Amino acid sequence: MTTEPRPLESPDDDIPALADSSAPPPRSRKPSPGSTDGPEAERPAGSQAGSTTGGFDTVLGKRVLEAGLVTEDELEQCRAQVDEEDSDRTLSDLLIEHQFLTDRQLERLRKEFDAKKSSQKIPGFRIIRKLGAGAMATVFLAEQLSLHRQVAIKVLPRKFSEDRNFIDRFYKEGRAAARLNHPNIVQAYDVNHAGDHHYFVMEFVEGDTVYDRIQQVKRIPEDEAIEILIQACRALHHAHEKGFVHRDIKPKNLMLTPSGQVKVADLGLARNLEDTEAAEQEKGRAYGTPFYISPEQIRGELTIGPPADIYGLGATAYHMVTGHVPYSGKSPSDVMRQHLKADLKPPDQINPVLSAGFCLVLEMMLSKDQSNRYRRASDVIDDLERVSRGEEPNFARPKLDLATLAVQVSQPPEPVELRAKPKQPGGNVSPVLVTSIVLNLLLLVMLVIFALT
Ligand SMILES: Nc1ncnc2c1ncn2[C@@H]1O[C@H](COP(=O)(O)OP(=O)(O)OP(=O)(O)O)[C@@H](O)[C@H]1O
Ligand SMILES: [Mg+2]
Repeated sequence: MTTEPRPLESPDDDIPALADSSAPPPRSRKPSPGSTDGPEAERPAGSQAGSTTGGFDTVLGKRVLEAGLVTEDELEQCRAQVDEEDSDRTLSDLLIEHQFLTDRQLERLRKEFDAKKSSQKIPGFRIIRKLGAGAMATVFLAEQLSLHRQVAIKVLPRKFSEDRNFIDRFYKEGRAAARLNHPNIVQAYDVNHAGDHHYFVMEFVEGDTVYDRIQQVKRIPEDEAIEILIQACRALHHAHEKGFVHRDIKPKNLMLTPSGQVKVADLGLARNLEDTEAAEQEKGRAYGTPFYISPEQIRGELTIGPPADIYGLGATAYHMVTGHVPYSGKSPSDVMRQHLKADLKPPDQINPVLSAGFCLVLEMMLSKDQSNRYRRASDVIDDLERVSRGEEPNFARPKLDLATLAVQVSQPPEPVELRAKPKQPGGNVSPVLVTSIVLNLLLLVMLVIFALT
């Protein structure tokens, strides 16, 4: 029973100076006697934390002593063990093992350490804590010292600085995004770099992501989902009008403030999406997750337009209301193959309380063929507003299945079922209506013949 996208890749936490504080403590090889933990930033780019603890153990020793968690003797004993043992254990491991420290205390100390280390790396900002990490970067809450305001800073791993094309795009798109201004878009403030670390400064949004919300409630009720989707569409419409395509709409990029405002994150953030082959080789790393990606992006089409974002939002909406991603599989390529070829399981087969009109909107957003998909986010808003008023959508129409229609005509009429929300006639055109049309046509033909003769 998988209700959430399984991560198909581990987050990239190769950010030496701004190490992922949620990562397990680096398992260091035994340091050579007398050596101190040198800054990880001095390691060759791309090397994994492994042979040192990046200075953490040194600071940890001081902190546990200050806090009275160990005596000097106990600390010395642990340090001696680190030096003497053949095992790979670090000071953190030993402090935990001897129960001087709990896992939670260690995690807190590590966060503190990371934040402090980071703040030395980005001039003008004081890092407060880590907010999260994705496939591409780590996001920190920080104070912008000059303006005394809280901001979120997305820091790219150092390896990105080696890709000149990517960095050029990162700056170009980041600067352009800073000119976008909309209440439903996370405001971009700046792009810059500190040493080899490139970063993106943006509005700090207090609250959860839609992904967190799905985790909490499993299925978001239709009316709440419609409200979220309308706001997300307003953001997309604005961005599209200004020539931006997000290309990575997914539950983790939709943030929800406590007052119910939706903020689309990462708009204008350049990403490595174009090279599907490379992405596949990296097993989804360059992509993040492929659960919400449009067929045209998978095909690597050159022009990716607004419909790609509408597809991503459709996949997000499907996940929101059914608790399942539209397509899941064993590997990124399996999921992507289904985006290209597999039939979509109708959302109301998973969640029968969904209205027919809403399902039609979802299905149209998720059309594989762009010509059958909404072209503009404003059209999606139009349909969603209609559905929320209990009306039929304007753009999303049921597919007329002639075979079903023929069977229905030949069968005796059934009583018409009344629904709270009007069920769209999808393969369910009322037989009474069809029979009456046919009879009326016959009558008309007879009248014409009668008049002519
Ligand atoms: N502006 C922001 N304000 C507050 N929290 C944020 C902000 N931007 C991102 N976050 C938090 O940081 C986490 C990581 O964000 P990030 O954009 O790096 O990764 P992601 O969107 O989860 O995944 P991916 O890297 O695959 O796009 C988010 O899930 C969110 O919880
Ligand atoms: Mg994001």
